[in-house]
Amino acid sequence: MVFDPQARDFQHNPYPVYDELRSTTPVFFWEPWKIWFFTRYDDVNTLLRDRRLGRTMDHILPPEQRYVPPPDIEPFTRLSSHSMFDKEPPEHTRLRGLVHKVFTPRRVESLREQITAITNKLLDAVVDKGEIEILEDFAVPLPVNVISELLGVPDADRHLLRPWSNNIVVMYELGHTPEQERLAVQSAVDFADYLRNLAAERRANPKDDLITALVQVEEAGERLTMDELISTCVLLLNAGHEATVNVIGNGLWALLRNPDQLRRLAAEPSLIPTAVEELMRFDTPLQLFRRWVLEDFEYKGQHFKQGDELGLMFGAANRDPARFPDPNTLDITRQDNPHISFGGGVHYCLGAPLARLELQMAYQTLLKRLPNMRLAGDAPTFKDAYVIRGLHELRLKFDH
Ligand code: HEM
Repeated sequence: MVFDPQARDFQHNPYPVYDELRSTTPVFFWEPWKIWFFTRYDDVNTLLRDRRLGRTMDHILPPEQRYVPPPDIEPFTRLSSHSMFDKEPPEHTRLRGLVHKVFTPRRVESLREQITAITNKLLDAVVDKGEIEILEDFAVPLPVNVISELLGVPDADRHLLRPWSNNIVVMYELGHTPEQERLAVQSAVDFADYLRNLAAERRANPKDDLITALVQVEEAGERLTMDELISTCVLLLNAGHEATVNVIGNGLWALLRNPDQLRRLAAEPSLIPTAVEELMRFDTPLQLFRRWVLEDFEYKGQHFKQGDELGLMFGAANRDPARFPDPNTLDITRQDNPHISFGGGVHYCLGAPLARLELQMAYQTLLKRLPNMRLAGDAPTFKDAYVIRGLHELRLKFDH
């Protein structure tokens, strides 16, 4: 078995390769991308929390050595350069603190009713047909609608968000075409303009939504700049979008391949919270996160130099037998399940409480309203991508 993150076979099912790598070469340098890859849970979990590594290096480099984007992609990099995702402490601490102050558990919990309404509305449109394409009919529109609800994006504008987000997240895959780059830049410009106008409108006419709260938030005299506010909203939409879609798609497909587990979950909805965690572990929606070495250091006898790039393989870590007994078995009752799918350390997923609520409610509604779900047609296929792992489509039949 050969490791090649651009090979279709690997992208469609990376788990057998992970099993082999974890036991034979748990840490290896992959020459084509000059990345050190880590496959074991213990290593991935430890390195995520190691402050000698960062999601970016810019903050430690002298200005003349920092990355300067080519002018034609500047509008795109501007979005990420003002987001907490691409900052390290102390800037990251300040930004995350401000956003955390208003993106509270209370605000997430207050979305419960709207999430119920959104999930039911999406299924109302298909229940009489006895057939559904899970991704387009349900999994894709759900997170966009929930995040729009959270932010306060009016109904009439919501159709704009998904194409913008899709065009932007393509840039997070390893490798993209000039046309994809052009679309990402255009979407960044349009999205930023839209949010700037919406924020100005809310400053004049405050409402009970997250955009208003972000416009008003203040902590110890600190506020968000307009660039930071725009980047935060884009991050919330993008970060919370594809992964949630794919935990629904990949998760249902995993349940269909394990019919005993699907039957049990349908019969015992109280298992939904542990089932959602297990589905996130079993088929990890975001397979890889990278880190850069901020200062020379040694880890388990291996020397790493400033600027080295590390690839933390979440999908491999989540199937590590040293942490998860019987890791290749889907067990919706698994209790001890500290999966790494939401990350760890200072960048731990800020949206995890919302993602959990949304996913639990999605599974609850799907299992209740689409009884006896089964595959319609051929087995689904995974997209040709490595980092964001998801299906092209998933067609199901159900009793009605
Ligand atoms: C199943 C769904 C989701 C998964 C698997 C997921 C996963 C992750 C992971 C792994 C990270 C850390 C990346 C790193 O350490 O390099 C992260 C960060 C983040 N996520 Fe999520 N996420 C999900 C849903 C959401 C949602 C719904 C939101 C918000 C609406 C969200 C907002 C964020 C934000 C703002 C960050 C950046 C935090 C920081 O840099 O401090 N995520 N997410």
